[in-house]
Amino acid sequence: MARITLRQLLDHAAEHDYALPAFNINNMEQGLAIMEAAEAVNSPVIIQASRGARNYANDIMLARMIDALAEIYPNIPVCMHQDHGNGPATCATAIQYGFTSVMMDGSLKADAKTPADYDYNVRVTRAVVDMAHWVGASVEGELGVLGSLETGMGEKEDGHGFEGKLGHDQLPTDPDQAVEFVKTTQVDALAIAMGTSHGAYKFSRKPDGAVLAMGVIEEIHRRLPNTHLVMHGSSSVPQEFIDLVNKYGGNMPNAKGVPEDQISMAVRNYGVCKVNIDTDLRLAMTAKIREVFATKPAEFDPRNYLGPAREAITKMVQRKLHMLNSAGKADEITRHWEKLGRPLPRYYSKPKAA
Ligand code: G3H
Ligand code: 13P
Ligand code: ZN
Repeated sequence: MARITLRQLLDHAAEHDYALPAFNINNMEQGLAIMEAAEAVNSPVIIQASRGARNYANDIMLARMIDALAEIYPNIPVCMHQDHGNGPATCATAIQYGFTSVMMDGSLKADAKTPADYDYNVRVTRAVVDMAHWVGASVEGELGVLGSLETGMGEKEDGHGFEGKLGHDQLPTDPDQAVEFVKTTQVDALAIAMGTSHGAYKFSRKPDGAVLAMGVIEEIHRRLPNTHLVMHGSSSVPQEFIDLVNKYGGNMPNAKGVPEDQISMAVRNYGVCKVNIDTDLRLAMTAKIREVFATKPAEFDPRNYLGPAREAITKMVQRKLHMLNSAGKADEITRHWEKLGRPLPRYYSKPKAA
């Protein structure tokens, strides 16, 4: 069975009151760890690759790896998603390599640094929707710009995000514009901006409504109750891993993420179906590798530090799958398709009427 589109998965999630974490991968250890966790708790998964990941791992390697993961775990529906595509070509080549879903991030221009205007965003997103829907792949768009409402800054940490400072008038998603954007572009899912940013330093203190503007999601959901909303920058940055990193020679002072209860609330009440998580997996991996290096300085077999890193990711992923309530849903999806008398199609997803 294996491959599923984002639309199919999010439609099922919305109907059955759960959400999917979308995990970024760059290598085999992360891929295997995520699938192991999904199998252990019987959950579908979204695996996503950024442009950086595609460059790092090579498209051919990534494509074959996803084929391998799907073959090793035939009972787990997997959506393979392009994270933060910067233009139609990035999205088209992702689909060529077997991705079942793409994000066209038209909130920024093709350099992934310059904030784009609304008309550009609509134009480029609509072009990708037309192209992707021809072949049954799904499309996530983004409106508003990801960045801190505390500092007005984007994230330079991972090379994606605007440079300099933006005001409150530019950062959070405008709910009125969201309605028009979804109608005009026909996206399958909408990423919204409300104060989260990528990386480990999202807030200087425990976030309140001024810096993590849940009211924005609430308002968008009120106006677009049938649209699947996506929260980016949604790592929780667990203190336990920050402590481990710092204990074993790292230097990550004042790292802070999105509290889990806020994510659960957005999923339960505000139509959030996809929750993007990269930093937490990076942290778990780095913390465990540091621990082995610090406590076993003679160790030089990569399996003996990548292995513990993999286990830590598996544990963390299981926790997220339970938190978003997608645990237990893999079988349900399979049964749902069996009832319809056909195997899970590789790409096809019927776009919902606006
Ligand atoms: O887009 C944000 C993700 O954390 C991916 O980061 O571009 O460094 O792979 P990356
Ligand atoms: P984090 O940096 O919070 O993990 O967010 C990842 C993300 O949004 C990828 O698109
Ligand atoms: Zn993101």
